[in-house]
Amino acid sequence: MRTQVAIIGAGPAGLLLSHLLAADGVESVVLETRSREYVAARIRAGLLESSTVDILAACGLDGRLREQGLEHRGIYLQWPEERHHLDFVDLVGRSVWVYGQTEVTRDLVAARDAVGQQFVYEISDTALHDLDSDRPYLTYVDVDGREQRLDADAIAGCDGSFGPSRKAIPSGVGQTWERAYPFAWFGILADVAPSTDELIYAWHPDGFALHSMRSESVSRLYLQVPPDTDPATWSDDQIWEALARRLGHGQNGWQLHPGPITDRSVLPMRSYVYEPMRYGRLFLAGDAAHIVPPTGAKGLNLAVADVALLAPALAAMINKGDHAAADSYSERALRRVWRCTHFSWWMTTMLHTHGDDFDAQLQKSQLQWVSSSAAGSAGLAENYAGLPISY
Ligand code: APR
Ligand code: PHB
Repeated sequence: MRTQVAIIGAGPAGLLLSHLLAADGVESVVLETRSREYVAARIRAGLLESSTVDILAACGLDGRLREQGLEHRGIYLQWPEERHHLDFVDLVGRSVWVYGQTEVTRDLVAARDAVGQQFVYEISDTALHDLDSDRPYLTYVDVDGREQRLDADAIAGCDGSFGPSRKAIPSGVGQTWERAYPFAWFGILADVAPSTDELIYAWHPDGFALHSMRSESVSRLYLQVPPDTDPATWSDDQIWEALARRLGHGQNGWQLHPGPITDRSVLPMRSYVYEPMRYGRLFLAGDAAHIVPPTGAKGLNLAVADVALLAPALAAMINKGDHAAADSYSERALRRVWRCTHFSWWMTTMLHTHGDDFDAQLQKSQLQWVSSSAAGSAGLAENYAGLPISY
């Protein structure tokens, strides 16, 4: 088989890339180890910054988002006895949207299916070859156990943090930066109307908690827990009690309404950046090149921003033989990646406790400043609602 761009991974990065390339007249094949059903059902984060919404809108992918998504003007920052609203629209003129990554993925798959995008699901043994030539190719084993080869002008590594793309770059070429955090998030999905109109990020001596949502009838909540926590060892009552305490149930009459828990999982927290995001004809995008901790919900938004830069760069290279944008892709993408890496680290550090009393005082002082100073809150708002793609 031959195509112009071989895309490894049918996550948001790979799916949106295939969509943007098609709009520029570039053909692609999307390869995926998982099944179509698994990809469509995976539960991930659910907050879209304003430039992500702009990109989805520009390619006509915002229909269901506008109907079923929830537009939020800002967030609440909270610590015991205090809750402050930050209004991003007032502060920086941009809002954010609550719309699950699961839904974004479904919309993308439906749009690609409608125009006959080639997907190859349930592949194994993906291997990348001749990346430093202008005839790179992939080999893999298809669902029926047959060995296959796919030749391309370029390969897009959109295969998440555990995929083969980054590992195919010879050692010594790139550099990695990493930070592991000494805590994890215990996330639940519950069939209950959210007890808040906008997200609550709560600092608490017992640990961080977040009240998020997926719709008007489904809530998504998180608790800071030790990284080795087994989610099965917590009863539903224990989860709701911890959430109520940390989120300030009873404070100024506010109440957290519990409901049936339909999903639970523990997510590790780390920051990771690989540079450069290109090696020869291989281009990395999304989690394949960088991971952020979930505080601030930048993972999906960064994946979208990467491919918004990558698609026109590949189109210029393939359609016109113009390599300038492809050559500067890594540097341009990394500028934003490091900004979001810093913001995610900063939000994480401000909100998670780790048993150090001095640090706890600094965190509360920082929260107070961010909530009460125009400069402090505008800084958070600008980063949270998202910087322009060309940042
Ligand atoms: N061959 C083909 N596909 C692969 C391979 C492989 N060898 N290895 C992994 N994949 C697939 C995974 O199964 C997954 O569907 O690549 C896809 C990568 O998708 P994501 O992990 O969703 O990564 P990305 O598209 O970069 O999106 C980033 O997803 O992980 C979240 O929080 C993150 O929201 C962010 C977003
Ligand atoms: C989510 O809804 O899953 C979510 C929202 C905001 C975050 C992280 C996760 O900062």
